Amino acid sequence: MRIAEEFDDWAERGKDRGMEQRHWHTAKHALSRMPVEAGETVLDLGTGSGYILRALRDTANIGRGYGLDGSPKMLENARSYTDDEQVGFVRGDFDELPFATDSIDHVFSMEAFFYAADPQQTLTEIARVLRPGGTFYCGVNFFEESVHTHKWQDKVDIEMILWNRQEYRDAFREAGLFVAEQEMIPDTETEIPPESEFPTEDWESREVMYERFREHGTLLTVGVAPD
Ligand SMILES: C[S@@+](CC[C@H](N)C(=O)[O-])C[C@H]1O[C@@H](n2cnc3c(N)ncnc32)[C@H](O)[C@@H]1O
Repeated sequence: MRIAEEFDDWAERGKDRGMEQRHWHTAKHALSRMPVEAGETVLDLGTGSGYILRALRDTANIGRGYGLDGSPKMLENARSYTDDEQVGFVRGDFDELPFATDSIDHVFSMEAFFYAADPQQTLTEIARVLRPGGTFYCGVNFFEESVHTHKWQDKVDIEMILWNRQEYRDAFREAGLFVAEQEMIPDTETEIPPESEFPTEDWESREVMYERFREHGTLLTVGVAPD
């Protein structure tokens, strides 16, 4: 499985924890907007270290959390970070979700959706498993308007989806989800050094770094399953 080949290696090198730290800057703002209630069931697609579910159990008292990932090593790591029996980690692919129709209250996904082999099929699957009125919170930092992220494709041996904001909305609607909200959540925590320190190994100028983190940040698109 191509996902396992790529991401098992990331997990073995501890990149799951690094992503958790970086992605939390914007993930927490997306999470805080999700209308989740105590006792509800949440599915985290491409769960990585599983930090989203740990946070939801601690702060929102969700009843059950499922972290789905295609990488067995990511899942092994995620399991080792919590002994909470209400959180389960499941191997699977975005295009065929191993959950019953109408069985999930909310789906969350952070920096993972763009790896779907067939994103329209993934959205159809999300719409199927969500109960009426359930929500899909989809955060991506790799998207058309965020031009400084496009080079990431060269570093990953999986074809990544580079949609723009409109394409996300259109695809959600085609899958039968209402689009309730869409915005770019700025990353205000990644430190941006003073002008005098540029160029750096990773950034040609301060302006570019500012655009990437403070202006584009993470694109959040929120879908709602119809009643
Ligand atoms: C960039 S990591 C993000 C992890 C975590 N959501 C975070 O915010 O740090 C993407 C994760 O999605 C998983 N993934 C990517 N494509 C997948 C697919 N088609 N099916 C299942 N898991 C997938 C990878 O194994 C990886 O753990």
